Amino acid sequence: MKQLVDFFQDKKVKKVLDVGTGSGNFLAVLKSACPDADITGIDPNSESLKEAAEKFPEVRLKKMSAENIELPENYFDVTAISMALHHLSDVEGALKEMKRVTKPNGWIIVSELFSDNLNRAQEVHKMYHHFGSRIDRILGVSHNKSFKKNDILKTVEDCGIDILFHFEYNKVVNTVLTPEELAARVKKMKERIETINHFSEYEMLKPQIEQFRINAEKYGFQSATRVVIVGKN
Ligand SMILES: C[S@@+](CC[C@H](N)C(=O)[O-])C[C@H]1O[C@@H](n2cnc3c(N)ncnc32)[C@H](O)[C@@H]1O
Repeated sequence: MKQLVDFFQDKKVKKVLDVGTGSGNFLAVLKSACPDADITGIDPNSESLKEAAEKFPEVRLKKMSAENIELPENYFDVTAISMALHHLSDVEGALKEMKRVTKPNGWIIVSELFSDNLNRAQEVHKMYHHFGSRIDRILGVSHNKSFKKNDILKTVEDCGIDILFHFEYNKVVNTVLTPEELAARVKKMKERIETINHFSEYEMLKPQIEQFRINAEKYGFQSATRVVIVGKN
């Protein structure tokens, strides 16, 4: 992300934390923006951490949740969270934890997909994402719908993070699924719905799979736009 590389190029960044690091997609971004930093990634999912460790053996990885960061306070120059805010059971609590472990005058990066002002292909992606997050919630796993852009900005500000700048980011534009990719997505939805076949929502959610297939063929499939926020602690 050029905007992050440009912003951090004249900053002295020695320690970086990536919260909800998953398999490490955002670690690559942080490494390019802060090439001299010692980077730590945390995530509660052991499988994802294993994948991240294979890709980034030099990154310190710890199994930990955003809501309870067991790391020292005032420690990191930069603390980031990417595409994970909507997974949290306590967004405000997590942002406050991120503030706590960030040095005074350090920087906090929030990168998050949003749910409004999307094109039709992105609405199809949202439908797919919300189908999955609904099933997670039925199964008792914290996974919210994606948030509106202004709500993300407001939440960050309300947590006492002073927003310096923000920008929109689209990783891929105008993605169309091949027939094989579409079939794989539909198969995945069918597998997922079977995990809730003993819940009352099963019959109500099932038609969404065929509707997704029709919409994806008609409009395409494109990831939602992200808002990337850089704030000061
Ligand atoms: C969509 S992935 C994002 C991964 C990566 N940061 C990226 O930008 O692609 C969401 C990640 O949030 C993690 N997550 C879920 N609940 C969390 C929590 N309470 N604290 C921290 N991370 C959490 C999931 O395990 C998952 O790895």
